[in-house]
Amino acid sequence: MSNAIPQSTENGNGLQSRGPLKVAIIGGGLVGSLAALSLARRGHEVHLYEYREDIRTAELVQGRSINLALSQRGRKALAEVGLEQEVLATAIPMRGRMLHDIKGNRTVVLYDPCTNQCLYSVGRKYLNEVLLNAGEKFPNIQRHFEHKLHYVNLTQGRMEFKRAPNKEIVEANADLVIGCDGAFSTMRQQMVKTPGVNYSQEYIEHGYLELCIPAKNGEFQMPENYLHIWPRDAFMMIALPNQDKSFTVTLSMPFKVFDTIRTTEELLNFFHKYYADAVPLIGEERLVKDFFKMPPQHLVSVKCHPYHYGAKALILGDAAHAMVPYYGQGLNAGMEDCTFLMSLFDQPNLTTAEILEQFTELRWRDAHAICDLAMYNYVEMRDLTKRISFRCRKWLDTQLFRWYPSVWVPLYNSVSFTSMPYSKCIANRKWQDKLLSNVFISATVALVAIGVSTYFGVFKISYF
Ligand SMILES: Cc1cc2nc3c(=O)[nH]c(=O)nc-3n(C[C@H](O)[C@H](O)[C@H](O)COP(=O)(O)OP(=O)(O)OC[C@H]3O[C@@H](n4cnc5c(N)ncnc54)[C@H](O)[C@@H]3O)c2cc1C
Ligand SMILES: *[C@@H]1O[C@H](CO)[C@@H](O)[C@H](O)[C@H]1NC(C)=O
Repeated sequence: MSNAIPQSTENGNGLQSRGPLKVAIIGGGLVGSLAALSLARRGHEVHLYEYREDIRTAELVQGRSINLALSQRGRKALAEVGLEQEVLATAIPMRGRMLHDIKGNRTVVLYDPCTNQCLYSVGRKYLNEVLLNAGEKFPNIQRHFEHKLHYVNLTQGRMEFKRAPNKEIVEANADLVIGCDGAFSTMRQQMVKTPGVNYSQEYIEHGYLELCIPAKNGEFQMPENYLHIWPRDAFMMIALPNQDKSFTVTLSMPFKVFDTIRTTEELLNFFHKYYADAVPLIGEERLVKDFFKMPPQHLVSVKCHPYHYGAKALILGDAAHAMVPYYGQGLNAGMEDCTFLMSLFDQPNLTTAEILEQFTELRWRDAHAICDLAMYNYVEMRDLTKRISFRCRKWLDTQLFRWYPSVWVPLYNSVSFTSMPYSKCIANRKWQDKLLSNVFISATVALVAIGVSTYFGVFKISYF
């Protein structure tokens, strides 16, 4: 449509002012479909290439996690494309964690007793559909489903796809190729082969598997406005509410524990021992069926730098920074990438090359920071939560937040309920730690906190 418009023109100052670009987006998941929408709104010619078929017409979506916790950063990015209210209208607010101990006792810990912020449980498929549907309004977005990228020339912006069902090769080219193709990104694989790109990936010992607590008589079987957590040291189970009054349950534990559960009997014994209160909710028959349906999935953490290559290639979302899911920020961080990228596109004097360069520079510290935080939470969940000093610190945090809500924002809250750069959230926490040890109140308060925390027994939380 805009083929006739030159890609870039020189203006009087010798600065490049950008015309509409032909942009290829690889991956029509949550970040890809958001990026497509954002660029189309700015008049660019967008081609969205997705490996799978159109999820809006597909019968079953095999995605990672059926629902997700949406928080401030994701909401802000959705607001920028005018979709926040539409998404929140069907999302289910989760005001706090509801902890299930091994005896089945439940304890509520609000996320934010001071200003009442909450997380929102949204369906992955629904969110993806909202984003794709919004794109239908733009004639300058073309969607190409069942196109799997298998090669890209990063310098020329030339791509090759395998098109289902015959895997015939389809070629295309673009002024800018943006890889939003997830944690196992083909685009990233091609980028990290080039010299000068730092890259690390880490598979953790834990895998995860999804189960379901169905609705009963058309009602939720547990209070719906909470993120339910069954903390069990090395294992962890959580449940998020769905629109259809079911809960999606995610069981996360070391592969070597999964390996010990091979028979129906072993499974039921395990569940009756650790998650007894959940068994009647899930139902034994359904538990057995769902547990053995699919092997547990791996979790990977990926960091790289830079996120761009030359003037034509960029990666966003999980492709750039996949993280373990223990902070509930993967999607939020990916959507925030779009916010950052668009703020650069909105600076008329930047060339495409400068936009990409500045994106990497603006983003990498914070992306690395949230990957680290997510990993830290994973470790914390297993070890730190047992330490008394850690529990005291958590208690103290909540008290200080209650007393000085504008000065003392705990780490979890700054990550989930503000847009403070992730690296600053960590710096803020370090400042708080330093203050506490300097003032030396921790020692005094610790004595009190030990008593309180053993009494309430609620400080074993860290997941979400
Ligand atoms: C168990 C679990 C729970 C999670 N919970 C949360 C949460 O509560 N909150 C949160 O913020 N985040 C959460 N996350 C993280 C979140 O799922 C991801 O960060 C998010 O999905 C990233 O979106 P994306 O679009 O970058 O990648 P993806 O969602 O992976 O989408 C990538 C898309 O690219 C397509 N694709 C892949 N390869 C190709 C190719 N070669 N050619 C063309 N297309 C291709 C795929 O089909 C897919 O549609 C969770 C993750 C897991 C695993
Ligand atoms: C790669 O990592 C090294 C060591 O941390 C660092 O000195 C270097 O600047 C990094 N290079 C890039 C391109 O990120």
